[in-house]
Parts: sequence; C-alpha cells; structure tokens
Amino acid sequence: MNLTRREFAAASATLALTACAGGPSRRAEADGKLPSLGRALAPYFPFGAAITPGQVAFGSADFIKAQFSVVVAENAMKPEALAARGEGQYSFTQADELVNFARASGLKVRGHTLVWHQQTPAWFFVENGAPVTRATLITRMERYITDVVGHFKGRVYAWDVVNEAYSFGEARTRTDSEGMRLSPFREIIGEDYIEIAFRAAARADPDALLFYNDYETQNPRKIAAISEMVTRFKAAGVKIDGIGHQAHCSMLHPSVNSFERAVEQYAMLGITQHVTELDIALNDDISANRVSEASPALLARQAQRYADFFKVFIKQRRHITAVLVWGIDDAGSWLRHWPNERFEAPLLFDEKRQPKPAFWALMKLAETG
Ligand code: G3I
Repeated sequence: MNLTRREFAAASATLALTACAGGPSRRAEADGKLPSLGRALAPYFPFGAAITPGQVAFGSADFIKAQFSVVVAENAMKPEALAARGEGQYSFTQADELVNFARASGLKVRGHTLVWHQQTPAWFFVENGAPVTRATLITRMERYITDVVGHFKGRVYAWDVVNEAYSFGEARTRTDSEGMRLSPFREIIGEDYIEIAFRAAARADPDALLFYNDYETQNPRKIAAISEMVTRFKAAGVKIDGIGHQAHCSMLHPSVNSFERAVEQYAMLGITQHVTELDIALNDDISANRVSEASPALLARQAQRYADFFKVFIKQRRHITAVLVWGIDDAGSWLRHWPNERFEAPLLFDEKRQPKPAFWALMKLAETG
C-alpha cells in the first residue's frame, strides 16, 4: 500500500499509541474501554468519520469500528485516486480494502465524490493537447460515474454525486451569472452537467441515495441556488435524494441558528440531509492562523460549539439522517495543512487519539438527548 507521508506519520503514531495504550480515560466504562460515541448517537442517526486506507491497514481499524457506524473515504474514492492513469483505467484496490473493511465491520459507507473541480485527473478535459468537446466530456463523465458507482453497487449507500458546484462571495472563485462555479465541467459541458451526472449515477445504482454536497450551505444565496436546482430536478424526474452539509465550522462561524434555519428550508424540498464533513476549528475563522495550542479554555469553547450543533442535529433528526466528522483525530486533520501548514485541532480526539472535552460533551448529550 503506497501511503502518503501524512498517512505514514499518522499510522506510526497510531501503532506507537496502540503499543503502549495509556490507562483508561477519566470516564472510561467499567471495563476500562472508552464508551462508543457511534453507539451512543445511534438512536438519533448514524455517526461516523472520514477515514483513510492507511488508518484501516495500520492500527486504527478497531478504533474506527468501536467509535463510528458510518464512514467515508477522505480521498481514496475521488477521481484522482480511482482513475489517475486515464479513461477506463481504474485502481480500486485501496478503496476496496476500505469499503470491504467497513462492510465486514457493519459500518455504512458514503461515497465521496464523483464530480468535483478538485482532485480530478486532467485526462477528463484534454484530447490531443486541446480541451475536449462537450460531447466527449459528457461521455467521459458518464462512463466514469457508471464504472465507479457500478463497481461499488450494493456496498455504498449514499454518493456525493456533485461536490461544490456553487460559490457566492468568494474572491478568487470564477462563477457564471447564477453563481455556478466555472469548473471545467461547467465550462465545457454547460450548466446541465449536474443533471447529467445525477442521471448517470441513478442508472448505475438505482438504490443508492444521491446527494449534492457543499460547504457554507447556510449561505442564503446557496440555499436559493440549491433549492432551485432540487426543485427543477424533481420536476424533471431527476433522482436527487439529499443535500450534504460539509459543515466545516470554526469557533465563530457559522451561527448554529443560521445552520438550523437552513436545515428547515432544505427540509421543505422533500429531501434528506447529511452532515458530511463536520469539524470545528479552534480559530475564530476557519482559515485564520492565530491559535498555536489547544488551551483548556479553547477546548471548553469547542466542546460547547460541538454540543450546540449536535443539539440541532438531534432536534432535526427527521431531516438530518447521518452525521460525519472529517477525520478520526486531530493528527490527521486537513486543517493542519490548509490554507498552509499550521496548528489546528478541530476534531473529537486529539493527536494522541485521546478523547477531548468535545467528545465527552457529546457523550453526555447523547445520554440526555
Ligand atoms: O496523494 C498525494 C501523495 O502522493 C503526495 O506524496 C502528497 C504530497 O503532499 O500529496 C498527496 O495528495 C494530497 C491528498 O490530499 C491525499 O492525501 C494532496 O496534496 C492534498 O491537497 C489533498 O488534500 C485533501 C483535499 O480535500 C484536497 O482538496 C484533503 O486530504 C481532504 O481532507 C480534503 O477534503 C475535502 C473534501 O473532499 C471536500 N470538501 C472539502 C474538504 C477539505 O478540503
């Protein structure tokens, strides 16, 4: 298995930790084991995390099985991981190891993601050194979706079919007049690329739940754009089952209230909703660099933010039917590398995989409801 440097470092840390596992945490269960947050939240919704093949293969499988009931591949099921070599040439080995581990462990699997402007190999968009035609890109996109969704059929219960197609108020992002990101898919195919992608996914696995996934889904202009798309799709008979709220949050943004208002507005569309990539950065703004350590005061504030969001998830569980955090511990968080190499601690377990105050706050909330 070819591990990235980050995965190898995280795997080594895990192996070290497992080898000299510390004593039970301050509130471990009678048998000294950590209580399972996935089991505690199971009465409300499946709770899970983004994972990597390296974590499964090098010492984190038992932890993942114990704490989560649904998983998603952080990177291993994206086009650049599955089809880097070219059209019709797939590398499914690592993704299959992750999916088969999950299935054997009784965990549900979300598929992430089929059509995205990032982590998609250039071959999709180029023919003999020139941009492909609309017809060629439609053929390539449909073939990719058909092959990938078909490969995982029956093992992946929900797909992020299209990710981050809209953008409002982002300085460095080019969009059309409707706020649709001018990705190669949008520029070469046109605005109907999203519909074409959803139709292809529905043909490939009619039983899978099909999601549109995005960040800042509480932004009123995104709510309007996504709602218009969902309404149009339903009127045209295009299968779309849900909205994915990435929910990359920080200490100050977004407000819990604005998130709940958005959930209520999307609920009127007759679709379900997943919280797909939750993390809560210690910085006030997700991309700020002002925090250099996870102080007790910051961890207490973060615990409160997690509890406040999960109170809404539980209250809105008729509409929110899965919640996943974007990583199993702080050591592996993408936010330590974006927008540059920095300190961040946005998840429920710290870099030594010890439960943080936020973990205990959610355990308490799950028990009291
Ligand atoms: O695979 C290469 C490896 O061969 C190479 O040695 C290494 C060098 O650093 O890079 C590896 O690729 C990295 C890839 O993750 C796999 O680890 C890329 O540099 C890195 O940019 C990429 O970051 C991922 C990011 O998406 C890409 O935009 C993050 O891990 C991942 O957490 C993040 O996830 C996205 C969701 O898919 C969509 N929503 C936003 C979220 C955060 O950006």
